[in-house]
Formats: sequence, C-alpha cells, structure tokens
Amino acid sequence: MIARLALASVLAAVVVAQCDDSVRGGRAAAIPVTDAAAVARGKALYEKNCASCHGTRLEGQADWRRRLPNGRFPAPPHDRTGHTWHHPDDLLFGITKEGMEKFAPPGHVSDMPAFGRLLSDGDIRATLAYIESRWPEEVWKARREMLKNRNP
Ligand code: HEC
Repeated sequence: MIARLALASVLAAVVVAQCDDSVRGGRAAAIPVTDAAAVARGKALYEKNCASCHGTRLEGQADWRRRLPNGRFPAPPHDRTGHTWHHPDDLLFGITKEGMEKFAPPGHVSDMPAFGRLLSDGDIRATLAYIESRWPEEVWKARREMLKNRNP
C-alpha cells in the first residue's frame, strides 16, 4: 500500500512536470476560472477582442452552423448553446493563440484570428476564464463527463 502511494506521488510529480513543460511550450495550463480578478480582466479582454464576432453576451453570430457564401463559418457562440465547452482547455487555448486553421482539417479557411501576437498567454487564459465562468453548473457537469476519458 505504501509502495503504491509512493508510486502515485511519483506519477503525480511526473504529471506536474509535464504540465510545466507544456506551459513553456505555450499550451493551456490551468484556466483560472475561479480567480475573480482574472475573470474580471478576461471580461475586459473579451469585450475588446472577441465580442465583435462572438457577441457581447457570448451568443455568436446568426446562423452560425451554416457556411457563409465565401465558404467560411460565422463565429459560433461561446455560451451553453455552442460547442466551445465540448473542447478541452488546451484546444481552446491553442485555437485562440494560433487560430483555427492549425487545428482544423487541411484546407479549412477560417475567419478566427490568431491572437498570439496581440495577447500574452496569461491574457488568453484570463479571456477563456471569463468565457468558462459563464457556463452554468450543468454545462460543467456535462463537460467533465465528456472529457473524462480523454488522454491529455
Ligand atoms: C473576426 C471575428 C472573430 C474574432 C474577433 C474572434 N473570433 Fe473566435 N472564431 C471566429 C470564427 C469565424 C470561428 C469559427 C471558425 C471556423 O469554424 O472556422 C471562431 C472560433 C473560435 C473558437 C472555437 C470554438 C469552437 O466551438 O470550436 C474559439 C475557442 C474562439 N473562436 C475563441 C475566440 C476568442 C477567445 C476571441 C477573442 C480573444 C475570438 N475568438 C475572437 C471569429 C472570431
């Protein structure tokens, strides 16, 4: 039992170390959704950088599931009616930092800008924290269930 506990703490340390690496590599780390100051900063960042397309109430653009005449998609909602919450944090972080095309099938052209030059990693995390803070408890529950068996 003690040996198993020791192994568990070694594994936990390895996981933490890998997270640190992934932060250095620019990946998500934890989205500070319970940090009120980060959420407030994220709200301001969202209103400045995201609301023009994704809506001041996170409602997205009209008919967001239907392609525009130019073949691109409108901006989807980030509230409970969209699918932002279906995705793990590192993907949301990656899309915001690097744009959609890197994460979409080859040939996908998208109007989602890459914010990596404009926003720091901390700004991106704060913006996502604001978005996530707006999800009601049942969305969090469904999300946990959906992402539970996913490999990091
Ligand atoms: C110029 C318009 C525009 C702005 C500004 C914009 N987005 Fe987007 N965003 C889009 C579009 C369009 C898509 C859908 C892209 C596609 O499917 O090709 C999208 C998709 C996304 C997605 C993927 C959602 C999903 O469910 O797959 C995330 C996450 C996202 N945006 C975050 C942000 C954040 C955070 C900001 C502000 C920092 C932002 N966007 C600003 C247009 C925009």
